[in-house]
Amino acid sequence: MAILLTGGAGFIGSHTLVELLNDGYDAIVMDNFSNASPEALSRVEELTGKSVKWYKADIQSREDLEKIFGENDIHEVINFASLKAVGESVEKPWEYYNNNIGGTLTLLDVMRKHGAKNFVFSSSATVYGDPAEIPITESCPKGTCTNPYGWTKWMQEQILLDMQKADPEWNVVILRYFNPIGAHPSGRIGENPSGRPNNLMPFITQVAVGKLPELGVFGDDYDTPDGTGVRDYLHVVDLAKAHVKAIDKLREKPGAFICNLGTGHGYSVLDLVKTFEKVNGIKIPYSIKPRRQGDIASCYCSPALAEKELHWVAEKGIEDMCRDSWNWQKNNPEGY
Ligand code: UFG
Repeated sequence: MAILLTGGAGFIGSHTLVELLNDGYDAIVMDNFSNASPEALSRVEELTGKSVKWYKADIQSREDLEKIFGENDIHEVINFASLKAVGESVEKPWEYYNNNIGGTLTLLDVMRKHGAKNFVFSSSATVYGDPAEIPITESCPKGTCTNPYGWTKWMQEQILLDMQKADPEWNVVILRYFNPIGAHPSGRIGENPSGRPNNLMPFITQVAVGKLPELGVFGDDYDTPDGTGVRDYLHVVDLAKAHVKAIDKLREKPGAFICNLGTGHGYSVLDLVKTFEKVNGIKIPYSIKPRRQGDIASCYCSPALAEKELHWVAEKGIEDMCRDSWNWQKNNPEGY
């Protein structure tokens, strides 16, 4: 009885794979390697001492999916496979809707044909839009997204809930991630963005390693303690462990379950820069730039439901996140 991880060689997928294998779960990976490397899977093997069964395959390919489901006894899927660059999604909406929504629809169809109706979905805090209340609880209404990437997450959630309602044999766990950063403490796996990073932590680590001259801080006039944007950063290893708990939850047959994953603490851009500097002893030059379109002032969650229902709490703090992000980057300046 295996768990299929689509996009399992990516940042969150590879960390989740480590935790699942370490806890004795049987996991299989498929990835099209459009934004990931098979090297990540070799390193997972090295970290866990277990061999990883993987396929180079695409969630948009029914043929690929039929082969994988035909060859394995898959009962659950964790769907990490997704295009995820916010700016790119504005330039290429069709590609985002086609890959993220079209791919997931194909995957869900193959799953139901094979009687595998258990799904964990990587969603995002972005579905709350500009949140109606802070800290954000799951009862906070979904909002208006500011980019096609966000809408793909928003719509995929709706598709999953509608399918589960129509066929209660489905069990669907929707995980709304806040801002995952950090890396495995070994420094062997981590985030490996292609091209210029869009997200804050990979940008900081690339400044630290000398690949980029300085960080641009997008706005210092928000209604936050220091004027810079506040987010709920969470360590990717904690996030990975939450997926193990989500599998346990699926096995309780919850029907539909939606849950925020964050620490519940908000840190500003400058908090993160200063903590990174302190923990790692490296200066991060920065300058204040105009606000980035679509950004909001503050976004952090209440993780109470995750604690109650998944029996999960984030254990690592902002210093661990800064230390492990740098440990990964300095040991892998060119990524994988
Ligand atoms: N920021 C900078 N400079 C940079 C990059 C980011 O100042 O070079 C700031 C942003 O303005 C924001 C904060 O750092 O205040 C965090 O930005 P990120 O791009 O790291 O993260 P976001 O919160 O914008 O977006 C992330 C994910 C999305 C997801 C969203 C959900 O990238 O996929 O969280 O809230 F949808």
